[in-house]
Amino acid sequence: MTRISGSSKHLRTSGDPYVKREDGVTEALLITIDGPSGAGKSTAGRALAKRLECNYIDTGALYRGVAYESKRAGIRPNDDEGLKRLCAGLDLSFSIGESGLRLMSGGNDITDSIRSSEIAMDASTVSAQPSVRSYLLTLQRRLAQHKRAVFEGRDMGTVVFPDADVKFYLDASLNIRAKRRYDELRKHSTRNLQEVETDLKKRDEQDRTRALSPLKPAKDAVRIDSSGLTLDEVVDTMIACIR
Ligand code: DC
Repeated sequence: MTRISGSSKHLRTSGDPYVKREDGVTEALLITIDGPSGAGKSTAGRALAKRLECNYIDTGALYRGVAYESKRAGIRPNDDEGLKRLCAGLDLSFSIGESGLRLMSGGNDITDSIRSSEIAMDASTVSAQPSVRSYLLTLQRRLAQHKRAVFEGRDMGTVVFPDADVKFYLDASLNIRAKRRYDELRKHSTRNLQEVETDLKKRDEQDRTRALSPLKPAKDAVRIDSSGLTLDEVVDTMIACIR
C-alpha cells in the first residue's frame, strides 16, 4: 500500500502529455471538482484521475473521518472547541491499496465505517466548524504539494486551491442525485429513496448556507450538468476542457 502524505513526492508522474515540459520534466497538475452530493463527483473524479494517470483525493472522506472520530470520542459535531482538541491529535491520511483509495486514521483503515447516512450528516455539521476547516485546509494543501492530482469536494476551487489549473463544478437535478445516492447506499442501508432525498436536500442546504467556505461554483469553474450524461461523457467533457 502506498501512503499519500504531505511529505511524499510525486506518486505517479508520467503518462500525461499535457503537462510534460519540453525538457521532459512533468509538472504538477491540479484539477478540482466541486458540487453537491450525488452529482457524480467521486465517480467522475476517479475516472478522470485514471485517464490522466494521477492521484485522486476525495476530501469529503476527510470530513467524514473527523465526524467518525468525533463520534467515537463522544464529541458533538457542533462542538468547535472539542473538535479543535480532537483535530490536534488526529492523524488522517490516504493509502492506495488494491481496492482503491483508503482513509486511514492513525493505523486504522476507517474507509468502510465513514459511509453511513449518519456519518454523512455529521460530516456536514463538523464541516461548518472553524477548527475543522482550518485543520483540513492545511492537510489538503499539504497533500497537494508537488503532486498531480484531482481533488474533489465542496470548496476546492473557491478556497483550498484558488489557483488550480482547471476547475469543474459538477451538478445534477435533485431527483437524479437522490437516486444515485440511494443506489450507492442500498447495500448497507435500509433508508428508502424518499428518505435519502430528504437527507441529501438537508445536507446540501447546510453545505450551501454555512458561513465558512460554502458550496458554490468558483467564478472560473467549468460547469457541467451530469443529469443526462453518462460517466464517459462527463469525463470526455472534462478531458476536452483540460486540453
Ligand atoms: O462528499 P461527501 O458527501 O463525502 O462530503 C461529506 C460532507 O463533508 C459534506 O456534506 C460537506 C463536507 N465537505 C466540505 O465541507 N468540504 C469539502 N471539500 C468536502 C466535503
